[in-house]
Amino acid sequence: MPELRVAVIASHNGSNLRALHRASLLADAPFRIVLVVSNNSDSGALRYARETRIPAVHVSGRTHDDPDEAMRAALVEHQADLVVTAGYLKKIGPRTRSAFATRIINVHPALLPRHGGPGMYGRRVHQAVLDAGDHVSGVSVHHVSGEYDAGEVIARIEVPVRGGDTAETLAARVLEAEHTLLPDVVRRIAHDSNALRSHPFEPTSDR
Ligand code: GRF
Repeated sequence: MPELRVAVIASHNGSNLRALHRASLLADAPFRIVLVVSNNSDSGALRYARETRIPAVHVSGRTHDDPDEAMRAALVEHQADLVVTAGYLKKIGPRTRSAFATRIINVHPALLPRHGGPGMYGRRVHQAVLDAGDHVSGVSVHHVSGEYDAGEVIARIEVPVRGGDTAETLAARVLEAEHTLLPDVVRRIAHDSNALRSHPFEPTSDR
C-alpha cells in the first residue's frame, strides 16, 4: 500500500505537526509528511520543518500576490493526498478547497459544534468551555469548509474538565489529546479513505 502523502498547514507553534511527524517515523507508519506550509515566517512549525528537512514553504499575503493559488500549487507540486490544518489561523482559500475538497481536515480543541467559529481559537476556546460550566471538553477533527470550524466532524475524543482548571491547564490537557487523536485519524485515513466519512469514532489508544 503506498504511503499517504500528508501536508500540514500551521501558523505558530506546530506541536501537532511534531506529533504527526513523530508518528510518521514509526515502523510501518502508513503516511509521511511531504510538506509544511505556514503563513508565519517565524513559526515554530516552519523552524521544525527546516530542522527536520521536511519541505517547507512560507505563503502569505506578503510573499505572494495570490496566497490561495500559491498554497494550492505547492500542495499539488508535492502531491499531497491529505491536507491537515493544525493551528492555522486563517481560512483555507476557495481554490485550495476546491482542489482538495474533502481531503482537508482540521483539528479543533473542543467538542464541536460547541465552542467553534470565528474568533474561537487558542485560550479563548478553553475559557469559553470553563465559562459555560462544561464538565467535558475534547478534541474534534473535521472537514474544512468555507466557514471556521463548520465542516463535518469525522472524529472526536473527550477530555475531562477538572475543578480548578484554568484555560491554560485545560488547554494543556486538550493539546495532549490532540497529539493522540490527530495521528490516529491520519493513520486510519491512510488505511481506509472511508475514515474521511463522518461516523462515530473511537480512538485506538486508551485515554
Ligand atoms: C491546537 O490547540 C489546535 O487545535 C488549534 O491550535 C492549537 C495549535 O497548536 N487549532 P500547535 O501549533 O499544533 O502546537
